[in-house]
Parts: sequence; structure tokens; C-alpha cells
Amino acid sequence: MTYPSTHKAIVVNDAENGVVVKTLPVPKLNDSEVLNPTDWKHVEYFSAAGDRLGCDFAGVVEASTDPDVKVGDRVAGWVHGGKYKDKGAFAEYVTTDSKHVWHVPDALPLDQAATITAPILTVFQTLIQTQGKPWPPANEGGWIFIYGGSSAVGLFAIQIAKLQGYKVVTVASPHNFDLVKSYGADEVFDYRDPKAVVDNVLSVTSGGVSIALDTISLADTQAITAQTFGKSGGTLNVILGISPEAAALRPDVKFVYTLLYTWFGKELDYRGRGTGKAVILPASKTDYDWHVESLRRLPDLVSKHGVRAPPLQMRGGLEDIAAGLEEMRAGKVSGQRLVYKIGA
Ligand SMILES: NC(=O)c1ccc[n+]([C@@H]2O[C@H](COP(=O)([O-])OP(=O)(O)OC[C@H]3O[C@@H](n4cnc5c(N)ncnc54)[C@H](OP(=O)(O)O)[C@@H]3O)[C@@H](O)[C@H]2O)c1
Repeated sequence: MTYPSTHKAIVVNDAENGVVVKTLPVPKLNDSEVLNPTDWKHVEYFSAAGDRLGCDFAGVVEASTDPDVKVGDRVAGWVHGGKYKDKGAFAEYVTTDSKHVWHVPDALPLDQAATITAPILTVFQTLIQTQGKPWPPANEGGWIFIYGGSSAVGLFAIQIAKLQGYKVVTVASPHNFDLVKSYGADEVFDYRDPKAVVDNVLSVTSGGVSIALDTISLADTQAITAQTFGKSGGTLNVILGISPEAAALRPDVKFVYTLLYTWFGKELDYRGRGTGKAVILPASKTDYDWHVESLRRLPDLVSKHGVRAPPLQMRGGLEDIAAGLEEMRAGKVSGQRLVYKIGA
């Protein structure tokens, strides 16, 4: 197969603290790309000028040296966009470790496949790896609290938690109540009344939970989530930094913070732009293996266990991504993923 020597890609533009479409040399592989919150956050807080942007993608393989990933295969995956000059999903061609893609089942459209990888892996990292739960799942029983059920991570967390045998209580905006219930939530409350959330969760769970995932993980959401635990405490997964104030509310609750980027297995300097302070996360073969093993499970989760992609809205192509990033930054994207089609 022949492909051009240059292609278009989104890169971070320091001068405007924004993004631009640039023509760059083609790396080597390719289609649908999706906006994640981490994309605009990288532009705002982490990326340097010239870094390529975009994490989640799905497409058709155009070149491969791995016999398990052949030219013409439909695959999906994610890369650490916003960090490197040569890695970014918002481009006509995407290169990645062949062990870090999964084969998309025939019945699953690529636009849906593109919305799955990073959020579902975040759920594997939290509810399975750090909670020390088996997979295939045991029938856990009992309740789990998922803060932010209508987020992409939340919709996958609900589905995986149900497969693990939990009853799920969550919070979302009222216009997303039907959505989270259709993905499996047993109970849902409006997060805008924090006291009512805590009271309602304690009530439906008959005294509180021992496991929770806060998919929003701001200081106030962590504080609310911590208070939904029962008298014997438990483990609370957060996916932004731990709030010391929230943690102080419940010393009997173990707060665990994870960052999915560690699953690439490489040492990671995760310092914020301009802070000068190195935050070094060590390379981890264990995390690399979790990444590969979890991706291997995705085709069956979709085909046999009925795990569904979040609702999505198709947008334009590369030129339209900057506007989508702005909408996400303004908190205007609710209960859905924005998907862009790049290439044929
Ligand atoms: N640590 C990691 O490795 C990791 C991995 C993935 C994501 N993340 C982070 O996790 C967060 C969620 O990511 P995502 O992709 O799932 O987000 P998303 O789908 O873009 O989240 C949008 C949803 O968040 C809900 N929401 C926003 N603010 C809220 C609040 N204060 N309380 C309750 N719900 C709120 C909204 O719910 P309603 O519309 O119903 O109000 C909206 O539907 C992001 O901050 C992301 O950066 C971290």
C-alpha cells in the first residue's frame, strides 16, 4: 500500500495557547478520532509548542510489522497525545505500538470504536487493577457508588461494575438520568444537592458503600464521594489528584489516584507546563502488561457481553477540532463523545 510522505495533523501552538493544523511528515499507520477532556487539558496545562495532540482513535491499518496486526485490519487504540512531537491521534496517520491496539468486531462501527479505549481502560485500571478484583469477574454483590455516571468513564464504569455483580448508585444531571439507567445504573441522583446525594446514597445502600469511583475527581466531588462510605470505610478511586481536604474527612477511606498514561509502561515526566517541578512516574512492566491484557479483552466485552460505546455526535474533520476542544473546556459536552472523521 502506498501513502503520502506528508499529512495533516493537529499540533499545539504556543503563541495562541491553542492548536493549529500543520502539514507534517507521515509517520507510518491510520480514521476516526475522538475528543477527551485530557486533550484540552494538555493544551492548557502540559503541552509544549509543536507537540502533537489527540488520544483516542480507530481506523484501518496501512502498514505493520506485527503478524497479529495486518494491513486492512480494523483497529482502535489510544496514544499519549499532547506530550510528544511524534504521537497524536488528531492526524491523518497515527503510529503506535501494535500491542496497544485492539481488533474492532465487524458489527461495531469505527466511530463507536473510537470512543471506547481510554475511558474503558481507565475503568480497568481503577475497578480491577487497583481494587484487586479478578477478571473474568467474580459476583461481588453489594453496592458501588460511581460519581459522574454520564461521563464516558462513568458510562463504562457502570457497565463493568454490573458485570462485576455490583448494584450501581450514581449521580448525573437529571437530563441524563435515563441515559445512565439505560447503561445499567440501579439508582441515580442529581449531584447539584450534595447533602441529598450523601443522604440518598446512605439510604439506598442501607448504610453506605465500601467501594467507589469518582470519575470527576474535583475537591468537592471527592468530598461528597468520601461521605457515601459506610462505617467500615473502603477504597475510593480518584482519577485526578487526591484532595487532602476530602481525604481528611474520612481517614478510614483509602484514596487511590491513578493515571492511565502509566499503562504505556514508560517513565513519564508529568510536570505541569511552567512549574519546573519534575513529577516522575517510573516505567512499569506490570502496567504495560495490564494495558496489553485489558485491550485483548475488549472485542469480547463488546461482542459477547454487550458493552456499549457512549452516545456520540459526529463532527467534521481536523479543521473542526479546535472548536470542539473549546466546547469541552467550557463544560458544554454532556453525556456524549464528539467524534471527527479524518481521511476517507
Ligand atoms: N486519571 C486518568 O487516567 C484519567 C483517565 C480518563 C479521564 N480522566 C479524567 O476524568 C474526567 C472524566 O473524563 P471523561 O472523559 O469521562 O469526561 P466526559 O465524558 O467529558 O465528562 C462529561 C460529563 O461529566 C459530567 N460532569 C462534569 N462536571 C461534573 C460535576 N462537577 N459533577 C458531576 N458530573 C460532572 C457531566 O455530567 P452531566 O452532563 O450529567 O451534568 C458530563 O456528562 C476528566 O477530568 C478526565 O480528564 C482521567
